[in-house]
Amino acid sequence: MTIAGHATPDAHPSDAPPWRLASFGSDPVALPLVVQADGDGDVGRLAHWLREHPTWVQEKLTAHGAILFRGFAVASPDDFERVARGIDDRLQNEYLGTSPRDALSGYVFSASELPPVYPIPQHCEMSFVKHPPRRVFFCCLVAPAPGGGETPLVDFRKVWRDLDPDVKHRFEDGGLRIVRNYAGPSGGSRLDLWKLKRWDEMFRTTDRAEVEHKCREEGFEPQWVGDDGLRLVSTQPVHRDHPVTGERVWHNHATTFHLSAASGEYRRIHALRPTLKNLALWQFARAMVALQRLTRSADEQSMHCTYRDGREIPDADMEHVRDVVWRHLVVYPWQRGDVVAIDNHSVAHGRLPFTGPRRIAVCWS
Ligand SMILES: [Fe+2]
Repeated sequence: MTIAGHATPDAHPSDAPPWRLASFGSDPVALPLVVQADGDGDVGRLAHWLREHPTWVQEKLTAHGAILFRGFAVASPDDFERVARGIDDRLQNEYLGTSPRDALSGYVFSASELPPVYPIPQHCEMSFVKHPPRRVFFCCLVAPAPGGGETPLVDFRKVWRDLDPDVKHRFEDGGLRIVRNYAGPSGGSRLDLWKLKRWDEMFRTTDRAEVEHKCREEGFEPQWVGDDGLRLVSTQPVHRDHPVTGERVWHNHATTFHLSAASGEYRRIHALRPTLKNLALWQFARAMVALQRLTRSADEQSMHCTYRDGREIPDADMEHVRDVVWRHLVVYPWQRGDVVAIDNHSVAHGRLPFTGPRRIAVCWS
C-alpha cells in the first residue's frame, strides 16, 4: 500500500503548459501522475491544453492509469465538467450502478450518497455492463477532514498479475454470477446493511417493460420480486483485456458485491486506522454478514456474487483478492479543486469512511 503525500517534480511536456508534472514516489509510471498547476491554475487554459493534446493524455492515462490535476481553480460542477470534457467530450449520464447519487448538472453527479461510515470497496466503474465507461473523473468540491474520505486507487492490471495462480484459475474457470436486489418505488426495507438505490431511480422510469428492455440490452436477467422489488442476475468473466495495451485486467465487482465485502473492508480499514470505532464497525459487519448468511439465500441478499454456476466462492479466495487489492492501494488526501481522471479499463477506485463535510463529484465517458 502506498500512502502518498509529497510530489516530486518531473519534466515539462514539450510546449510548456502552465503546470509541473510530478508523481507520488519514484516510480516512473506511479499511480496517479500528478499535474500541479503553476500560476493561477486557469481552468479554461487547462481544458484547452488538454483538448489540444489528446495523444499526451491518452499515453499518460494508459501508462499511469490516472492523472491528478491539483492546484487548478476548479470550484464548481461546471468547472469540473470543462476539465473532464477537455479530456473526453463524450460524457455519459446513464448510471446502472448501485450507489445513490444526486445530479449536480446534466452530466455531473455526487459521487455517492451512501452514509459516510460505509467504505466503498475498489471497483472499476460499472464493470458489470456490456460497455463500461472508458474514463471516470472525480472532483473535490469540499475536502474531507484529514484521515478519512479519500478515494483510493488501485491498478487492477497489477491485481490480475499478482493473484495466486490457483485462486486465479478458480475465478477464470468459474466466472461470476452477480445478484442485486433493488427496492421499488415503495422504498423497501431499512434494515439492509448494503441497501441499494431503488430501481425506478436507477432506470429513471417506473415502466416495468422499459426496465426489462434495458436490462436485456445490458445482459441482466430481471426478476420481479414481491410487490415491487427487482432482482437483477448477470454473469460475466472476471477479467477484460485492456483495449489499448491488451494487458489482462481484473475487471469485475466481486470485492464490492460479495457478501463478505463489508467485514473484509472494515478489517483492513481497522488495520490502516486502528480506532475503537473501526474495531466496532468491523465486528458489527462480521456479525451482520453471519446473520445475513443464516437468514437469506444467495439470491435474496442485497447483493452477492458466486461462480457462474451458483457455487459459493470460498471466503479464503475473496480474502486473498482483497489482500492483493489492498497491497496496491494508493491513498492520498483530497485537496479542494482536485480533479482525477481515471482509465476505467485498468484502474479501480473506492472510498474510505469519513466524518464531517465532504463533497466529491463524479462524471464519466
Ligand atoms: Fe464507482
